[in-house]
Amino acid sequence: MHLTPTALLRCLRPTIAMALMACLAGTVPAAAPTVESPEAAAGKGRFEKLCVACHGKAGEGRADRAPALQQRPDLAREFIRNRIVEGKHGDHAMPPWGTVLDAAAIDELVAYVSWLAGHPAGDAGTTLTPFSLDDPARIAAGRKRFNKTCAGYCHGYDGSGGRAPDFKGRPELDPQFLYDTIYHGREGTEVMPAWGDALPEDTIWELVAFLRQLGQQPVD
Ligand code: HEC
Repeated sequence: MHLTPTALLRCLRPTIAMALMACLAGTVPAAAPTVESPEAAAGKGRFEKLCVACHGKAGEGRADRAPALQQRPDLAREFIRNRIVEGKHGDHAMPPWGTVLDAAAIDELVAYVSWLAGHPAGDAGTTLTPFSLDDPARIAAGRKRFNKTCAGYCHGYDGSGGRAPDFKGRPELDPQFLYDTIYHGREGTEVMPAWGDALPEDTIWELVAFLRQLGQQPVD
């Protein structure tokens, strides 16, 4: 497989950051690497609403509907922009979004599809986030929100005890898994409600930042 220098950097950067974190903290690093890009992360949210029906959840494509957008080094950024804005007529048409979405929304989609297109194969578990999940201010905001919204009825204060599982001592908690669980909720013996419509995406990511940080702490 051909790796461009940027793709290689994308692949290595989280690994280096995590190795550094592990040295500093003297602990096992969390399982999943993350890549920060506010624009691409916003585009991902929009892509999941507008594009997945044809292009598949992670842009893997759907044989009967639309081509894959993942791992497509042949797709240049300007070509991607043009297809999104103009669409393409044909038996399987690509709808034009230029008159429906504003310029910022198009930029975000272009950023996300370009990220998908340059996604190296070994990088499948990488989570795209709008900011660094290690940012102390974001973790603090997530903690505040958690203790206001999630603690009490179901989860205990600072994520321990309560009716739901503890979060401490779980470095394997995957950021994308946490995000999806908060966004979509989960059915089980205890129902976890879906927050996707109630909370802005950044707020959900702040919750993820807080829970991930809890997961990296030892059990009391
Ligand atoms: C109704 C189904 C449908 C939806 C919804 C859709 N697409 Fe497409 N898309 C297609 C089809 C079909 C093609 C292939 C068109 C062709 O080349 O003939 C395509 C092509 C593309 C291409 C060019 C890929 C290539 O290999 O040439 C890009 C980029 C793209 N779509 C992005 C998007 C984005 C971003 C969205 C959401 C905003 C989206 N599409 C929504 C059907 C869809």
